[in-house]
Amino acid sequence: ALITLRQLLDHAADRSYGVPAFNINNMEQGLAILEAARDKDAPVIIQASRGARSYAGDIMLRKMIEALVEMFPTIPICVHQDHGNDVKTCLSAIQHGFTSVMMDGSLREDAKTPADYGYNVHVTRTVAELAHMVGASVEGELGCLGSLETGEGEKEDGHGAEGKLDHSQLLTDPDEAMRFVTETKVDALAVAIGTSHGAYKFTRKPTGDILAMSVIEAIHEKLPNTHIVMHGSSSVPEEWQAMFNENGGELRETYGVPVEEIVRGIRHGVRKVNIDTDLRLAGAAEFRRVANTDRTQFDPRKFLKPAMDAMKKICAERFEAFGTAGNA
Ligand code: G3H
Ligand code: 13P
Ligand code: NA
Ligand code: ZN
Repeated sequence: ALITLRQLLDHAADRSYGVPAFNINNMEQGLAILEAARDKDAPVIIQASRGARSYAGDIMLRKMIEALVEMFPTIPICVHQDHGNDVKTCLSAIQHGFTSVMMDGSLREDAKTPADYGYNVHVTRTVAELAHMVGASVEGELGCLGSLETGEGEKEDGHGAEGKLDHSQLLTDPDEAMRFVTETKVDALAVAIGTSHGAYKFTRKPTGDILAMSVIEAIHEKLPNTHIVMHGSSSVPEEWQAMFNENGGELRETYGVPVEEIVRGIRHGVRKVNIDTDLRLAGAAEFRRVANTDRTQFDPRKFLKPAMDAMKKICAERFEAFGTAGNA
């Protein structure tokens, strides 16, 4: 059944678990995520970016989600707009049946220029007022995703770096977070702690200087009742990097967010954990393996079934680690 982000995260806070928010673009991702949720008896958030909406088309996406809800009747499913860039994107998502939207006002409408605090409050509060009138939930973001190692923030496609940002823009200020939540009435708050989107997050296993989990602890102390969202939370597992590279891939050595750090975040108010790259990487590693080991193969199902199994395995591991399992 469909559920709002607020309903799901209130339940998660009550029982001290976290919920992975997996990005969805196609049927294979949808089936993999929901089969894992059913196996683990876990509620789940499926989120679509603007890119996903234009890739699949709003109607296809809506019908696909309808199908998933019907196929997996025991699973609470929140359908969320990932990184909405303006009011219109958020409202059209709700029109298409999304139960939750992210208004990412940390960046301007172009989704690449850092926005000032006043703009962020204005646009996020507007979306919250409208969404709440029709029972949908809202996630806001304060601070810019990006690397504390390089000082580079995110660019248009959400992956990689564009301009240099100063340290303070790459970390959410706890006092400003308190003001922001009061002024916007968001249901959940995405914070910046040094993570970035995509595969290249850290050049070494992250420690406190480049992955600022302490900022989450400080925000949770000031805002104990606010649901915290971690973006850029793929772990970029070494074994999947290896399988990708052993089959002709050329991924540079890289480190993601360790699952144990996310688990620590969940003990301090993190309730929604955004994961896209891990499923992309595992799926792509399987395509490569099939292409590499069975060079006469051209049946898409022979590529996509192993890809689905790989994505499903990662989803199941996250449901277990985050304590989502058993809470459907
Ligand atoms: O924001 C980043 C998510 O991984 C979505 O990526 O915009 O390429 O669909 P996308
Ligand atoms: P990853 O690129 O780490 O999977 O992050 C996804 C994300 O934050 C989507 O909003
Ligand atoms: Na989001
Ligand atoms: Zn994100």
